[in-house]
Amino acid sequence: MASRGASRALRASAKQLAAPAVQRRTFVSALNAARAGVTAAPRAAVTAPFVQKRGVKTVDFAGTKETVYEREDWPREKLLDYFKDDTLAMIGYGSQGHGQGLNLRDNGLNVIIGVRKNGQSWKEAEQDGWVPGKNLFEIDEAISKGTIIMNMLSDAAQSETWPQIKPQLTKGKTLYFSHGFSPVFKSLTKVEVPTDIDVILVAPKGSGRTVRTLFREGRGINSSVAVYQDVTGKAEEKAVALGVAVGSGYLYKTTFEKEVYSDLYGERGCLMGGIHGMFLAQYEVLRERGHSPSEAFNETVEEATQSLYPLIGQNGMDYMYAACSTTARRGAIDWSKKFKDTLKPVFNELYDSVQDGTETKRSLEYNSRPDYREAFEKEMEEIRGLEIWRAGKAVR
Ligand SMILES: NC(=O)c1ccc[n+]([C@@H]2O[C@H](COP(=O)([O-])OP(=O)(O)OC[C@H]3O[C@@H](n4cnc5c(N)ncnc54)[C@H](OP(=O)(O)O)[C@@H]3O)[C@@H](O)[C@H]2O)c1
Repeated sequence: MASRGASRALRASAKQLAAPAVQRRTFVSALNAARAGVTAAPRAAVTAPFVQKRGVKTVDFAGTKETVYEREDWPREKLLDYFKDDTLAMIGYGSQGHGQGLNLRDNGLNVIIGVRKNGQSWKEAEQDGWVPGKNLFEIDEAISKGTIIMNMLSDAAQSETWPQIKPQLTKGKTLYFSHGFSPVFKSLTKVEVPTDIDVILVAPKGSGRTVRTLFREGRGINSSVAVYQDVTGKAEEKAVALGVAVGSGYLYKTTFEKEVYSDLYGERGCLMGGIHGMFLAQYEVLRERGHSPSEAFNETVEEATQSLYPLIGQNGMDYMYAACSTTARRGAIDWSKKFKDTLKPVFNELYDSVQDGTETKRSLEYNSRPDYREAFEKEMEEIRGLEIWRAGKAVR
């Protein structure tokens, strides 16, 4: 049976690799470059100095202006004052519920957890020190006590439980998501939000485990922030404050649609699906052409993950090229064009499949199956059994 740990770990590892350190570095270096007045520096994608206006930074990322909020504008005292009359009801205690919930608690905010009593999350919440009847409740009770309802159920569960949850979202409450999935694909999820409440989003660009780890290290994760519905006129401000309270360092303004499209697209592409497909294709050709498993693995995965990709993360693609031999550089630059041209139609097909709801439909159908954890574990078993990953184990 699929353990929750395994599924979390999988999502964690993929998103973790992709986001926090890299994006943090990108923004920080962008900011530093901007502060230093650097223009058109090849490594920093910043072409103009940033402009600060009342807590908002407008940063010019390679010619496109973006709004970025940062943690420094919301010190703890300000957060405590801002949310002094609120009860934050964290519904669900999986990867994000755990990370965001504990960060809110450590920030001193009035947060309660709502999960089903017979589920695994209830036990985990108790282990983390949440106390039944004090700050740990069944879902309905937590929603009734909360002023800000943070829906951290899995996306499939958000759709499944919506008929029970919706009537409890009465005027004056705020609905918070960490993914645009449910409201954006409402024709499929049936998550039609009440029209008289604020609906906001803070989507950390990484696993809930990373949200927690970075917070404990005194750092913050990068997050997207968006408003779906602003009834009070305060929705954006509330979203940013919550984003900081759950552990974000920088918050990049977006829309629900853009957040969900880019997220589903990215994880199916370069972050997870695309990279796995590329590893498999390269490995298979090497094996079919007579190379040993260790050689095929080392030239496909080991050198990538242990040596070259971290260089890209640290200082960019040009830095990685510059760190390699002249022979490697020449061939890699030439072949990158062919790969880009060949793969671009596939990426367009993928984006269409995200945008038209095909990916959402598939995800809802698959993840609503009562045996979805077992089915996932079966697929993991198959992946573990592939020669490339068995070879990887031996190499490591
Ligand atoms: N994980 C990430 O890396 C990540 C990153 C950014 C954004 N997000 C978003 O954050 C949200 C939460 O995701 P997650 O990954 O934290 O979720 P998750 O780890 O899959 O957690 C699922 C939660 O939903 C509960 N649940 C599942 N089915 C249920 C049902 N039928 N009725 C009641 N409760 C049910 C589980 O409780 P039981 O233990 O009782 O089953 C658990 O508390 C999603 O919108 C997701 O897209 C996730």
